[in-house]
Amino acid sequence: MDKKSVLIVEDEFIIANAIKLIIQDMGYSVIDIVSSGEQAIELVKTSTPDIILMDISLNGQMDGIETAMKIRVSLDVPVIFLTSHVNDALLQRAKLTEPFGYLLKPFQDKELQTNIEMALNRHNMESKLKELNRTLENRVKEEVELSRQKDYLLIQQSKMASMGEMIGAIAHQWRQPLNAVALYVQDARDAYGCGELDKAYLYEMVENTLRQVEFMSNTINDFTNFFKPSKERMPFKINTAIQEVIYLVYDLFTESGIKISLSCTYPEAVRKTTVSQTQAICLCKPELTVEGFENEFKQVILNVLCNARDAILSKGSAVEDGEISVVLSKLADMIIVEVRDNAGGIPTEVLDKLFEPYFTTKGAAGTGIGLYMSKIIIESNMGGKIYAVNGETGAVFTIELNNFTA
Ligand SMILES: Nc1ncnc2c1ncn2[C@@H]1O[C@H](COP(=O)(O)OP(=O)(O)OP(=O)(O)O)[C@@H](O)[C@H]1O
Ligand SMILES: [Mg+2]
Repeated sequence: MDKKSVLIVEDEFIIANAIKLIIQDMGYSVIDIVSSGEQAIELVKTSTPDIILMDISLNGQMDGIETAMKIRVSLDVPVIFLTSHVNDALLQRAKLTEPFGYLLKPFQDKELQTNIEMALNRHNMESKLKELNRTLENRVKEEVELSRQKDYLLIQQSKMASMGEMIGAIAHQWRQPLNAVALYVQDARDAYGCGELDKAYLYEMVENTLRQVEFMSNTINDFTNFFKPSKERMPFKINTAIQEVIYLVYDLFTESGIKISLSCTYPEAVRKTTVSQTQAICLCKPELTVEGFENEFKQVILNVLCNARDAILSKGSAVEDGEISVVLSKLADMIIVEVRDNAGGIPTEVLDKLFEPYFTTKGAAGTGIGLYMSKIIIESNMGGKIYAVNGETGAVFTIELNNFTA
């Protein structure tokens, strides 16, 4: 094993040489003897001794304590003070440098050896601990980064899944006006064939066609807005947000035989005129406000509604009249959104796994990230809660959020 190297910082030449002989006898090598703090620091920078034996009174501007302080801050070499000075003030100053030993001259050789060995041991242990800490810190950083990337991927996947739903809904909403436009065009051709295509006829046809085209264009705008990520936490009206999601999926759900309704049960709620063409979605006033990310919240509602639809459809003929009801209520400062279905509920053995990433009972048709994502959005990003229980006829998903008051 290599000999441990020692630097002696001592302004009295005879003492320094005596110490040198003693520690060489003990089996250490002496890198050098210097008599000032400045020289010591320069030397430590270039030849990194394993340990420094430091007198307190030195030649030059700095004393041993100041020198040790500078070495401790940036050079990490253990220092043992060797001095004939003893007074409280000096001891207190020396303590601040966290010395690895403090020996009063004259000292026994054995004392010096024990001090050096203990100092080397302690320094070795401390270095290992520091290294361990660094490794742990890096591991934690890596893990955090990995899980951040995983969450990001999940968010993207989940967006793609909801986009699939939305494309279905757009296709559906376009079918009707596209048919209408096709009919107008055929009608114009027939009218021309019969000589009925006069100016008034043509104008009416153009008007009707433009109305359909405008409806199609509005549908695209609605969907585009739906997928823009919300930029910042902002107060938003939760009644409108939920109602807009229901509006988007309403026709598709109804076609599959599933009724969907939104109602409000907080005392001051007044049912307002219906907003959709279907007359089934009510908007209550005054609206409740929460703070958070509106579009992400809408995705949560979409996830939960689509899950309820899937559960109803998976029952096949067993559930003839599928029903999903969304109920908005308020309890003290809390706003509660409940989504109930009548698909028979969630098997108890999977109840506590629903919100885990990749948990799905839908085989290849499901990715199992809808609810996991929903939990991140509601709980981590919006400070709320989302959970599921079984109600009388099926699953009940509850979202709790704080009521926002300006
Ligand atoms: N209303 C419900 N009734 C019964 N089971 C449900 C209901 N909602 C969710 N589940 C169960 O929870 C599981 C996880 O739902 P989650 O939305 O996370 O994933 P998924 O719907 O399977 O797939 P995707 O990621 O495509 O949404 C579902 O596979 C289903 O078993
Ligand atoms: Mg889902």
